[in-house]
Amino acid sequence: MEDANLPMRQYLEENPMKRRLFTVGLAAAVFSLTAMAQQPIVIKFSHVVARDTPKGLGAEYFAKKAEEMTKGKVKVEVYANSTLYKDKEEMEALQLGAVQMLAPSLAKFGPLGVKEFEVFDLPFIFDDYNDLHKVTQGPVGKMLLDKLEAKGIRGLGFWDNGFKSLSANTPIKTPADLKGKKLRIQSSKVLDEQMRSIGALPQVMAFSEVYQALQTGVVDGTENPISNLYTQKMHEVQKYLTLTEHGYLGYAVIVNKKFWDGLPADVRGQLEAAMKDATAHANKTAKEQNDKDLDAVKKSGKTQVYEPTKDERMAFKKAMAPVHQKMESRIGKDIIQEVYKETGFDPAKL
Ligand code: LMR
Repeated sequence: MEDANLPMRQYLEENPMKRRLFTVGLAAAVFSLTAMAQQPIVIKFSHVVARDTPKGLGAEYFAKKAEEMTKGKVKVEVYANSTLYKDKEEMEALQLGAVQMLAPSLAKFGPLGVKEFEVFDLPFIFDDYNDLHKVTQGPVGKMLLDKLEAKGIRGLGFWDNGFKSLSANTPIKTPADLKGKKLRIQSSKVLDEQMRSIGALPQVMAFSEVYQALQTGVVDGTENPISNLYTQKMHEVQKYLTLTEHGYLGYAVIVNKKFWDGLPADVRGQLEAAMKDATAHANKTAKEQNDKDLDAVKKSGKTQVYEPTKDERMAFKKAMAPVHQKMESRIGKDIIQEVYKETGFDPAKL
Protein backbone atom coordinates (compact mmCIF):
# COMPACT_ATOMS: atom_id res chain seq x y z
CA MET A 1 0.00 0.00 0.00
CA GLU A 2 1.21 3.49 -0.82
CA ASP A 3 2.33 5.65 2.12
CA ALA A 4 0.23 8.83 2.01
CA ASN A 5 2.99 10.77 3.79
CA LEU A 6 5.68 9.74 1.32
CA PRO A 7 5.95 13.01 -0.68
CA MET A 8 6.22 15.04 2.54
CA ARG A 9 8.83 12.67 4.01
CA GLN A 10 10.87 12.74 0.78
CA TYR A 11 10.70 16.54 0.70
CA LEU A 12 11.94 16.82 4.27
CA GLU A 13 14.73 14.29 3.72
CA GLU A 14 15.96 16.24 0.74
CA ASN A 15 15.80 19.62 2.56
CA PRO A 16 17.70 19.41 5.89
CA MET A 17 16.92 23.08 6.72
CA LYS A 18 13.17 22.55 6.26
CA ARG A 19 13.46 19.35 8.27
CA ARG A 20 14.93 21.24 11.19
CA LEU A 21 12.22 23.89 11.00
CA PHE A 22 9.53 21.23 10.81
CA THR A 23 10.90 19.47 13.90
CA VAL A 24 11.09 22.71 15.87
CA GLY A 25 7.54 23.63 14.83
CA LEU A 26 6.24 20.22 15.80
CA ALA A 27 7.93 20.44 19.20
CA ALA A 28 6.40 23.90 19.79
CA ALA A 29 2.93 22.65 18.88
CA VAL A 30 3.23 19.67 21.24
CA PHE A 31 4.52 21.97 23.98
CA SER A 32 1.66 24.45 23.67
CA LEU A 33 -0.92 21.65 23.53
CA THR A 34 0.52 20.19 26.74
CA ALA A 35 0.56 23.64 28.33
CA MET A 36 -3.06 24.14 27.31
CA ALA A 37 -4.00 20.80 28.79
CA GLN A 38 -2.35 21.87 32.05
CA GLN A 39 -4.01 25.29 32.22
CA PRO A 40 -6.33 25.22 35.20
CA ILE A 41 -10.06 25.54 34.66
CA VAL A 42 -11.00 28.94 36.08
CA ILE A 43 -14.17 29.41 38.10
CA LYS A 44 -15.05 33.04 38.72
CA PHE A 45 -17.07 33.26 41.96
CA SER A 46 -18.62 36.69 42.30
CA HIS A 47 -20.46 38.04 45.33
CA VAL A 48 -21.58 41.32 46.84
CA VAL A 49 -20.58 41.14 50.52
CA ALA A 50 -17.29 41.76 52.30
CA ARG A 51 -14.66 39.04 52.53
CA ASP A 52 -15.05 38.79 56.30
CA THR A 53 -18.64 37.55 56.27
CA PRO A 54 -20.22 34.08 56.32
CA LYS A 55 -20.52 34.10 52.51
CA GLY A 56 -17.16 35.76 51.87
CA LEU A 57 -15.33 33.27 54.07
CA GLY A 58 -17.36 30.37 52.65
CA ALA A 59 -16.30 31.35 49.14
CA GLU A 60 -12.64 31.48 50.12
CA TYR A 61 -12.89 28.15 51.88
CA PHE A 62 -14.46 26.59 48.79
CA ALA A 63 -11.71 28.08 46.58
CA LYS A 64 -9.03 26.50 48.76
CA LYS A 65 -10.75 23.11 48.94
CA ALA A 66 -11.49 23.08 45.20
CA GLU A 67 -7.85 23.69 44.34
CA GLU A 68 -6.69 21.05 46.82
CA MET A 69 -9.20 18.40 45.80
CA THR A 70 -8.69 18.85 42.06
CA LYS A 71 -4.90 18.98 42.59
CA GLY A 72 -4.72 22.36 40.91
CA LYS A 73 -6.86 21.47 37.90
CA VAL A 74 -9.35 24.11 39.02
CA LYS A 75 -8.62 27.65 40.13
CA VAL A 76 -11.41 29.55 41.86
CA GLU A 77 -11.14 33.33 41.64
CA VAL A 78 -13.29 35.00 44.29
CA TYR A 79 -14.49 38.55 43.63
CA ALA A 80 -15.98 40.05 46.82
CA ASN A 81 -17.86 43.28 47.56
CA SER A 82 -19.54 43.72 44.14
CA THR A 83 -16.11 44.29 42.53
CA LEU A 84 -17.15 42.23 39.50
CA TYR A 85 -20.94 42.51 39.42
CA LYS A 86 -23.73 44.03 41.49
CA ASP A 87 -26.90 42.17 42.53
CA LYS A 88 -28.92 42.27 39.34
CA GLU A 89 -25.99 42.11 36.93
CA GLU A 90 -24.50 39.03 38.59
CA MET A 91 -27.57 36.89 37.83
CA GLU A 92 -27.48 37.95 34.18
CA ALA A 93 -23.72 37.37 33.98
CA LEU A 94 -24.17 33.85 35.36
CA GLN A 95 -26.81 32.98 32.79
CA LEU A 96 -24.60 34.36 30.01
CA GLY A 97 -21.61 32.41 31.32
CA ALA A 98 -19.49 35.53 32.02
CA VAL A 99 -19.15 34.29 35.60
CA GLN A 100 -19.46 30.68 36.70
CA MET A 101 -20.47 30.74 40.36
CA LEU A 102 -22.53 32.97 42.66
CA ALA A 103 -24.26 32.76 46.01
CA PRO A 104 -27.11 35.28 45.84
CA SER A 105 -29.39 35.80 48.78
CA LEU A 106 -32.57 33.71 48.60
CA ALA A 107 -34.47 37.01 48.40
CA LYS A 108 -33.00 37.74 44.97
CA PHE A 109 -34.44 34.89 42.89
CA GLY A 110 -37.83 36.52 42.22
CA PRO A 111 -36.63 38.64 39.28
CA LEU A 112 -35.27 35.44 37.73
CA GLY A 113 -38.81 34.07 37.77
CA VAL A 114 -38.30 31.59 40.61
CA LYS A 115 -40.68 33.24 43.06
CA GLU A 116 -40.92 30.17 45.28
CA PHE A 117 -37.58 31.12 46.87
CA GLU A 118 -39.35 34.04 48.55
CA VAL A 119 -40.83 31.56 51.02
CA PHE A 120 -37.58 32.11 52.99
CA ASP A 121 -38.46 35.80 53.30
CA LEU A 122 -41.74 35.26 55.12
CA PRO A 123 -41.44 37.04 58.47
CA PHE A 124 -40.93 34.87 61.56
CA ILE A 125 -41.23 31.63 59.56
CA PHE A 126 -38.09 30.13 61.17
CA ASP A 127 -37.51 30.24 64.90
CA ASP A 128 -33.85 29.36 64.57
CA TYR A 129 -31.17 27.75 62.37
CA ASN A 130 -32.50 24.28 63.28
CA ASP A 131 -35.88 25.07 61.76
CA LEU A 132 -34.23 26.50 58.71
CA HIS A 133 -32.00 23.46 58.16
CA LYS A 134 -35.03 21.17 58.16
CA VAL A 135 -36.00 22.99 54.97
CA THR A 136 -32.65 23.70 53.31
CA GLN A 137 -31.27 20.23 54.00
CA GLY A 138 -34.48 18.34 53.23
CA PRO A 139 -36.71 17.57 50.25
CA VAL A 140 -38.16 21.11 50.05
CA GLY A 141 -34.67 22.55 49.65
CA LYS A 142 -33.86 20.06 46.90
CA MET A 143 -37.13 20.75 45.11
CA LEU A 144 -36.38 24.49 45.17
CA LEU A 145 -32.87 24.05 43.78
CA ASP A 146 -34.25 21.81 41.03
CA LYS A 147 -36.47 24.68 39.89
CA LEU A 148 -33.36 26.57 38.78
CA GLU A 149 -32.51 24.04 36.06
CA ALA A 150 -35.08 25.55 33.69
CA LYS A 151 -33.20 28.84 33.98
CA GLY A 152 -29.87 27.33 32.94
CA ILE A 153 -28.69 27.27 36.54
CA ARG A 154 -27.62 24.40 38.81
CA GLY A 155 -28.11 24.85 42.55
CA LEU A 156 -25.33 23.27 44.61
CA GLY A 157 -26.52 23.99 48.13
CA PHE A 158 -27.63 26.48 50.73
CA TRP A 159 -25.30 28.63 52.82
CA ASP A 160 -26.44 30.35 56.01
CA ASN A 161 -26.06 33.91 56.98
CA GLY A 162 -28.47 34.80 59.76
CA PHE A 163 -31.52 36.52 61.13
CA LYS A 164 -32.21 40.11 60.18
CA SER A 165 -32.57 43.07 62.50
CA LEU A 166 -33.98 46.52 61.82
CA SER A 167 -31.95 49.70 61.94
CA ALA A 168 -32.77 53.41 61.53
CA ASN A 169 -31.80 56.84 62.80
CA THR A 170 -34.71 56.96 65.21
CA PRO A 171 -35.42 54.42 67.98
CA ILE A 172 -37.37 51.28 67.01
CA LYS A 173 -39.47 49.64 69.71
CA THR A 174 -42.83 49.21 68.04
CA PRO A 175 -43.90 48.73 64.42
CA ALA A 176 -45.40 52.23 64.57
CA ASP A 177 -41.87 53.63 65.00
CA LEU A 178 -41.20 52.75 61.37
CA LYS A 179 -44.40 54.18 59.95
CA GLY A 180 -43.66 56.34 56.92
CA LYS A 181 -39.93 55.52 57.01
CA LYS A 182 -38.13 54.64 53.80
CA LEU A 183 -36.52 51.26 54.35
CA ARG A 184 -34.12 49.61 51.92
CA ILE A 185 -34.99 46.04 50.97
CA GLN A 186 -33.68 43.36 48.63
CA SER A 187 -35.62 42.63 45.43
CA SER A 188 -38.31 40.44 47.02
CA LYS A 189 -42.04 41.09 46.85
CA VAL A 190 -42.44 39.35 50.20
CA LEU A 191 -40.06 41.83 51.80
CA ASP A 192 -41.94 44.66 50.11
CA GLU A 193 -45.18 43.40 51.67
CA GLN A 194 -43.48 42.85 55.02
CA MET A 195 -42.36 46.50 55.20
CA ARG A 196 -45.79 47.73 54.08
CA SER A 197 -47.39 45.64 56.84
CA ILE A 198 -45.73 47.91 59.41
CA GLY A 199 -46.54 51.09 57.47
CA ALA A 200 -43.01 51.62 56.12
CA LEU A 201 -42.07 52.53 52.55
CA PRO A 202 -39.89 49.81 51.04
CA GLN A 203 -37.21 50.75 48.51
CA VAL A 204 -35.45 48.06 46.47
CA MET A 205 -31.75 48.84 46.16
CA ALA A 206 -28.55 46.97 45.26
CA PHE A 207 -26.52 45.97 48.30
CA SER A 208 -23.50 47.95 47.10
CA GLU A 209 -25.50 51.18 47.31
CA VAL A 210 -26.97 50.79 50.78
CA TYR A 211 -24.23 52.44 52.85
CA GLN A 212 -24.31 55.61 50.80
CA ALA A 213 -28.10 55.69 50.69
CA LEU A 214 -28.19 55.49 54.50
CA GLN A 215 -25.45 58.08 54.85
CA THR A 216 -27.12 60.61 52.57
CA GLY A 217 -30.64 59.96 53.84
CA VAL A 218 -31.96 58.54 50.55
CA VAL A 219 -33.39 55.85 52.83
CA ASP A 220 -34.02 56.05 56.59
CA GLY A 221 -33.22 52.50 57.57
CA THR A 222 -32.78 48.90 56.56
CA GLU A 223 -32.81 45.25 57.66
CA ASN A 224 -29.89 42.84 57.53
CA PRO A 225 -28.07 40.23 59.58
CA ILE A 226 -25.45 41.88 61.78
CA SER A 227 -22.54 40.47 59.72
CA ASN A 228 -23.69 42.48 56.69
CA LEU A 229 -24.48 45.58 58.72
CA TYR A 230 -21.09 45.60 60.44
CA THR A 231 -18.85 44.72 57.48
CA GLN A 232 -20.47 47.44 55.34
CA LYS A 233 -20.11 49.90 58.27
CA MET A 234 -23.86 50.58 58.20
CA HIS A 235 -23.78 50.91 61.99
CA GLU A 236 -21.75 54.09 61.52
CA VAL A 237 -24.65 55.70 59.67
CA GLN A 238 -27.54 54.21 61.67
CA LYS A 239 -28.07 55.47 65.22
CA TYR A 240 -30.39 52.68 66.33
CA LEU A 241 -30.38 48.92 65.84
CA THR A 242 -33.14 46.73 67.28
CA LEU A 243 -32.50 42.99 67.40
CA THR A 244 -35.88 41.98 65.99
CA GLU A 245 -34.59 38.87 64.17
CA HIS A 246 -37.87 38.98 62.28
CA GLY A 247 -36.70 37.16 59.19
CA TYR A 248 -33.95 35.06 57.68
CA LEU A 249 -31.26 35.87 55.10
CA GLY A 250 -29.21 33.10 53.51
CA TYR A 251 -27.90 31.98 50.14
CA ALA A 252 -28.15 29.45 47.35
CA VAL A 253 -24.80 28.59 45.79
CA ILE A 254 -25.39 28.39 42.07
CA VAL A 255 -23.42 27.67 38.90
CA ASN A 256 -23.96 28.06 35.19
CA LYS A 257 -25.43 24.68 34.28
CA LYS A 258 -23.81 24.40 30.86
CA PHE A 259 -20.39 25.10 32.36
CA TRP A 260 -20.94 22.61 35.20
CA ASP A 261 -22.23 19.83 32.95
CA GLY A 262 -19.31 20.41 30.57
CA LEU A 263 -16.66 19.76 33.25
CA PRO A 264 -14.76 16.45 33.14
CA ALA A 265 -16.73 14.04 35.35
CA ASP A 266 -13.82 13.47 37.78
CA VAL A 267 -13.29 17.21 38.26
CA ARG A 268 -17.00 17.79 38.77
CA GLY A 269 -17.07 15.07 41.44
CA GLN A 270 -14.09 16.66 43.23
CA LEU A 271 -15.77 20.06 43.11
CA GLU A 272 -18.97 18.58 44.54
CA ALA A 273 -16.94 17.18 47.41
CA ALA A 274 -15.27 20.57 47.93
CA MET A 275 -18.71 22.22 47.96
CA LYS A 276 -19.96 19.74 50.54
CA ASP A 277 -17.05 20.63 52.84
CA ALA A 278 -17.45 24.36 52.24
CA THR A 279 -21.18 24.19 52.94
CA ALA A 280 -20.63 22.39 56.23
CA HIS A 281 -17.96 24.92 57.17
CA ALA A 282 -20.01 27.98 56.15
CA ASN A 283 -23.07 26.78 58.03
CA LYS A 284 -21.06 25.95 61.12
CA THR A 285 -19.48 29.38 61.33
CA ALA A 286 -22.30 31.73 60.21
CA LYS A 287 -23.77 32.19 63.68
CA GLU A 288 -20.34 32.68 65.28
CA GLN A 289 -19.58 35.33 62.69
CA ASN A 290 -22.82 37.20 63.38
CA ASP A 291 -22.31 36.97 67.16
CA LYS A 292 -18.77 38.27 66.84
CA ASP A 293 -19.92 41.17 64.67
CA LEU A 294 -22.70 42.04 67.12
CA ASP A 295 -20.07 42.39 69.85
CA ALA A 296 -18.03 44.62 67.55
CA VAL A 297 -21.06 46.81 66.79
CA LYS A 298 -21.77 47.16 70.50
CA LYS A 299 -18.13 48.00 71.24
CA SER A 300 -18.02 50.61 68.47
CA GLY A 301 -20.45 52.78 70.40
CA LYS A 302 -21.70 54.20 67.08
CA THR A 303 -25.19 52.79 67.32
CA GLN A 304 -27.51 51.96 70.20
CA VAL A 305 -28.26 48.26 70.18
CA TYR A 306 -31.68 47.45 71.61
CA GLU A 307 -32.88 43.98 72.61
CA PRO A 308 -36.70 44.02 72.31
CA THR A 309 -38.78 42.47 75.05
CA LYS A 310 -40.85 39.40 74.28
CA ASP A 311 -43.98 41.54 73.98
CA GLU A 312 -42.29 44.07 71.74
CA ARG A 313 -41.10 41.32 69.41
CA MET A 314 -44.59 39.82 69.47
CA ALA A 315 -46.03 43.14 68.28
CA PHE A 316 -43.82 42.93 65.17
CA LYS A 317 -44.86 39.33 64.69
CA LYS A 318 -48.56 40.22 64.85
CA ALA A 319 -48.19 43.17 62.51
CA MET A 320 -46.28 41.12 59.93
CA ALA A 321 -48.40 37.93 60.22
CA PRO A 322 -50.86 38.78 57.38
CA VAL A 323 -47.92 38.73 54.93
CA HIS A 324 -47.97 34.90 54.96
CA GLN A 325 -51.46 34.68 53.56
CA LYS A 326 -51.15 37.67 51.27
CA MET A 327 -48.15 36.13 49.56
CA GLU A 328 -49.67 32.67 49.08
CA SER A 329 -50.55 33.25 45.46
CA ARG A 330 -47.06 34.51 44.66
CA ILE A 331 -45.01 31.87 46.46
CA GLY A 332 -47.41 28.96 46.11
CA LYS A 333 -49.64 27.70 48.91
CA ASP A 334 -48.19 24.17 48.63
CA ILE A 335 -44.64 25.30 49.24
CA ILE A 336 -45.62 27.43 52.21
CA GLN A 337 -47.52 24.46 53.67
CA GLU A 338 -44.50 22.18 53.08
CA VAL A 339 -42.29 24.59 54.98
CA TYR A 340 -44.81 24.86 57.83
CA LYS A 341 -44.88 21.07 57.99
CA GLU A 342 -41.09 20.76 58.15
CA THR A 343 -40.69 23.37 60.88
CA GLY A 344 -43.89 22.81 62.82
CA PHE A 345 -44.85 26.45 62.28
CA ASP A 346 -48.48 27.08 63.15
CA PRO A 347 -49.88 30.24 61.50
CA ALA A 348 -52.95 30.03 63.76
CA LYS A 349 -50.67 30.87 66.70
CA LEU A 350 -49.69 34.22 65.22
C1 LMR B 1 -28.51 42.25 50.78
O1 LMR B 1 -28.66 42.70 49.63
O2 LMR B 1 -28.83 42.87 51.79
C2 LMR B 1 -27.91 40.89 50.96
O3 LMR B 1 -28.54 40.03 50.08
C3 LMR B 1 -26.44 40.89 50.68
C4 LMR B 1 -25.90 39.50 50.79
O4 LMR B 1 -25.52 38.94 49.78
O5 LMR B 1 -25.83 39.02 51.93
